Amino acid sequence: MNTALFDRISAVEADLSVVFVPSEGELPESTAWVDAKSSGQILQLRESEVFKGSVAQTLLLPSISEEFASAVLLVGIGKDALSDAKAKKVIAAVSSQIKGLPFAKVAVALSGLTIVDREAANVLTLAAQWLNEGFYEFIGFKQDDKEKVTKVETLLLEGSDESAMSIGVATAAGSAFTRQLGNLPGNVCTPSYLASKAQELGEDYGIDVELVDETKMDELGMHCMLSVGRGSDQPSYLIVMHYRGGAENEAPHVLLGKGITFDTGGISLKPGAKMDEMKYDMCGAASVFGTMKAICELKPALNFTAVIAAAENMPSGHATKPGDVVRTMSGKTVEVLNTDAEGRLVLCDALTYIERFEPQSVVDIATLTGACIVALGSVNSGMYSNSDVVAESLKSASKGAADKLWQMPLDEEYQQQLDSNFADIGNIGGPEAGSVTAACFLSRFTDAYPWAHLDIAGTAWTGGAAKGASGRPVGLLTQYLLSKVS
Ligand code: BES
Ligand code: MN
Ligand code: ZN
Repeated sequence: MNTALFDRISAVEADLSVVFVPSEGELPESTAWVDAKSSGQILQLRESEVFKGSVAQTLLLPSISEEFASAVLLVGIGKDALSDAKAKKVIAAVSSQIKGLPFAKVAVALSGLTIVDREAANVLTLAAQWLNEGFYEFIGFKQDDKEKVTKVETLLLEGSDESAMSIGVATAAGSAFTRQLGNLPGNVCTPSYLASKAQELGEDYGIDVELVDETKMDELGMHCMLSVGRGSDQPSYLIVMHYRGGAENEAPHVLLGKGITFDTGGISLKPGAKMDEMKYDMCGAASVFGTMKAICELKPALNFTAVIAAAENMPSGHATKPGDVVRTMSGKTVEVLNTDAEGRLVLCDALTYIERFEPQSVVDIATLTGACIVALGSVNSGMYSNSDVVAESLKSASKGAADKLWQMPLDEEYQQQLDSNFADIGNIGGPEAGSVTAACFLSRFTDAYPWAHLDIAGTAWTGGAAKGASGRPVGLLTQYLLSKVS
């Protein structure tokens, strides 16, 4: 699908025109113009309460007059200025209404949509992103997959800021990639599959890709990372992708993703209920892939290195056992008290590996702890940082992208929960403050650079009937990187 801009509703030809209708008061200019073309049908529908204009209510008018050929979709926006959450609902309603309709060219009169505290350019970015995201369907294994492809070919948005629009479109393309990888089952999406996807990105966009395989990891002393994949027949990979859009001597910003392609818990086996959802334990990695795609599409002037720590956590006769002690690449030893706390074990060696890039900043993204879901639910991602600069920068990217995070504490006092009798560090420190102690564990490996950690356990996917990857936090990460363009 292709997204483009148009100037004004009176000058665009489309098969379907989408206009926004408040529940009270004057119609926005573009809606009023369409209303006039329909000899006042829109206002009549509102007065008769057939279409009240409540938030995210929709009504399709197949034809409104002889001279206006386009069908019209009315979309309610209520009476007050829209919050981010309500605006998102409104846009989601638009996508879900139009994706099944037989219209190839759809024009959305965006000037009728305003969001509290957001300028028009920002609304355009978010609307372009959310509309496109609304067309995502998991295509893979069902016989009727083909029927799900939308008939919409061109999405026309009212606006003038090409660059604002393209950020939204690229973010949506990135988040679709993230969701697709996340939704793939563990028997397809293995560490080698992620490695092959990196190589594909390398070919498609001309970025450099390096694969660190198990032999190389062993040489480098990444025994902690290796201990996680030991029980699996699938080889682990550390995957590195370099986007080089900045000056040659400019230090990169690094994103590191947890890529556990299936987390059984290992010998500390998880209970069976909902264990299928542990295919999503690579959503941190998937969000880094999606962000790389968005950045490759936008081509900003900055250097960005993406690192994926990919492994499968399985029980077997070779698997790491509770109480085993392993040496990290940093030289610190870890007592693996619980093999289900495996994310930190792959990330710590990746964090040490990343030192060689002398990065300006490092952000890791991980479905790290169930405790983070207890703390923040599925609204905010948990954010931890050893740097106020990185923390503030992530907060402002989060605001811009309407992709929420909440800063959590990293006080020194929590660190002692990781003490071990037999090694430098234990790999668990809970159950109290389980998300914090996981972040504390990572912080032991991040002295060399400004760093932040995003725990996306609650935000990366939705369970239950609407099970599926969310694509978060690609919006936030893309905005974060774009803010680094000098
Ligand atoms: N991948 C899980 C965290 C998780 C669980 C994310 C449920 C989303 C939903 C992680 O590897 C894990 O198992 N963490 C343990 C840590 C514990 C053993 C200290 C947890 O959260 O229970
Ligand atoms: Mn686990
Ligand atoms: Zn895990």
